[in-house]
Amino acid sequence: MSVRNWKNPLRDPRDKRLPRIAGPCGLVIFGVTGDLSRKKLMPAIYDLANRGLLPPGFALTGFARRDWENEDFAQVVYEAVKQHARTPFRQEVWDRLAEGIRFVQGTFDDDDAFDRLAETVRELDEQRGTGGNHAFYLSIPPGAFPVVCKQLARSGLASQDGDSWRRVVIEKPFGHDLRSARELNQIVNDVFPEESVFRIDHYLGKETVQNMLALRFANQMYEPIWNANYVDHVQITMAEDIGLGGRAGYYDGIGAARDVIQNHLLQLMAFTTIEDPVSFSPRSLRTERIKVLTATTPAKPFDETTARGQYVGGWQGGQKVPGLLEEEGFPKDSVTETFAAITLEVNTRRWAGVPFYLRTGKRLGRRVTEIAVVFKRAPHLPFDQTSTEELGQNAVVVRIQPDEGITIRFGSKVPGTTMEVRDVTMDFSYGRAFTESSPEAYERLILDVLLGEPSLFPVAEEIERSWEILDPILNQWASKGKPDPYAPGDWGPKSADEMLARTGRTWRHP
Ligand code: BG6
Repeated sequence: MSVRNWKNPLRDPRDKRLPRIAGPCGLVIFGVTGDLSRKKLMPAIYDLANRGLLPPGFALTGFARRDWENEDFAQVVYEAVKQHARTPFRQEVWDRLAEGIRFVQGTFDDDDAFDRLAETVRELDEQRGTGGNHAFYLSIPPGAFPVVCKQLARSGLASQDGDSWRRVVIEKPFGHDLRSARELNQIVNDVFPEESVFRIDHYLGKETVQNMLALRFANQMYEPIWNANYVDHVQITMAEDIGLGGRAGYYDGIGAARDVIQNHLLQLMAFTTIEDPVSFSPRSLRTERIKVLTATTPAKPFDETTARGQYVGGWQGGQKVPGLLEEEGFPKDSVTETFAAITLEVNTRRWAGVPFYLRTGKRLGRRVTEIAVVFKRAPHLPFDQTSTEELGQNAVVVRIQPDEGITIRFGSKVPGTTMEVRDVTMDFSYGRAFTESSPEAYERLILDVLLGEPSLFPVAEEIERSWEILDPILNQWASKGKPDPYAPGDWGPKSADEMLARTGRTWRHP
């Protein structure tokens, strides 16, 4: 193919490099008193407004039990913005946003409250020109999804007329296992067609996750070696140094695998392993993600290929920290895992035989998320054995956070008169290469919801495939009792190291 005819698959022909600005619309948030709303959603909405990406008449409506007026809710949003927004505070942006803020008081089983919400939305269409286009953000426990969906249907809020749209945004957890995920999808799809359902996996909103697609499909040099012929194994790590104080209500009985492997880590794996999409259209991307998730199975036997742990009390960063069982709200006999490591196989021609190790944990050494593609050793080294004693395996490491970037590790001659080869790294850092800072994941995803751009949202089938992969492991773990202990600041329990040692490999300590 000549260079002239070469088509860039990442370039959407409609994109004339203009900023993507949402058309007339409003957003209703259920669960506005929760942490996610205050720390992420409200600041992201302000940041979008500040960047000029929301329509002038944008409307934000909160729905909650509190006895608030519009002004009280506006004050809550104001404080959240002041405290957590990424971009600088500008009074004129805030004033314009505040004009479109409304609050509806009520509980989820209160028909009148939903009728009042429907009335508020109609008024907004007249007062703010939102044009009948509204998204409903369910930042609420999944147990409340059915009743809210039913209320949205009953009050007519879910029906779209003519060219207007109605969309629903759902936060994880998307179920507890395959069966409950199917039920949940059914409930939501009874009210909203699949194309109007936006399931948030905030990792897909992170710039570096999307950069995996750029790295692989906008370049020529990685794809030829991105397969089982050259790749030895892949390690995907999401480590956090924080504990679970204050989150018992959500986390107990859920654990690390359901909390982040089922969604964030499996999606990272999918982005790492998909075949090149026919185009960059939402449909092509999702088709490829579904294909690769369908081809993925957990490696057996689970006693050898998985590990799970629970942090105990101890010292971390010079501070005394409690173990999970001493954290407020956790039962003293909780068997919830705070560390999980699993081995997956992707049964395709490209990946057969390459193990994918996924691990995540709380109270680990540091906060870091990365995808490390580790390559096989060169088949023949024409050096003395002593010259290459310090030569490891080549690796491409995509750092999702913090210090977003890419590191390539390879062997290099140590300066001097003897031939000695040692590992060195070549670093690309977003912070150094680009002047503009990355938007928060929620900015990107909320904007995509308002634009109706579904590429970065998992569809029902992906969610179900993910549970199919995880369920057998979770079932086996459920019969095992207590997870293995690990000290705060460690990289998980001893069993995690043993799991890799059995295959002759070691975990990276990023
Ligand atoms: C959430 C999990 O989805 O992701 C949390 O429920 C976790 O347990 C969080 O702490 C981490 O997100 P981030 O963007 O800080 O890596």
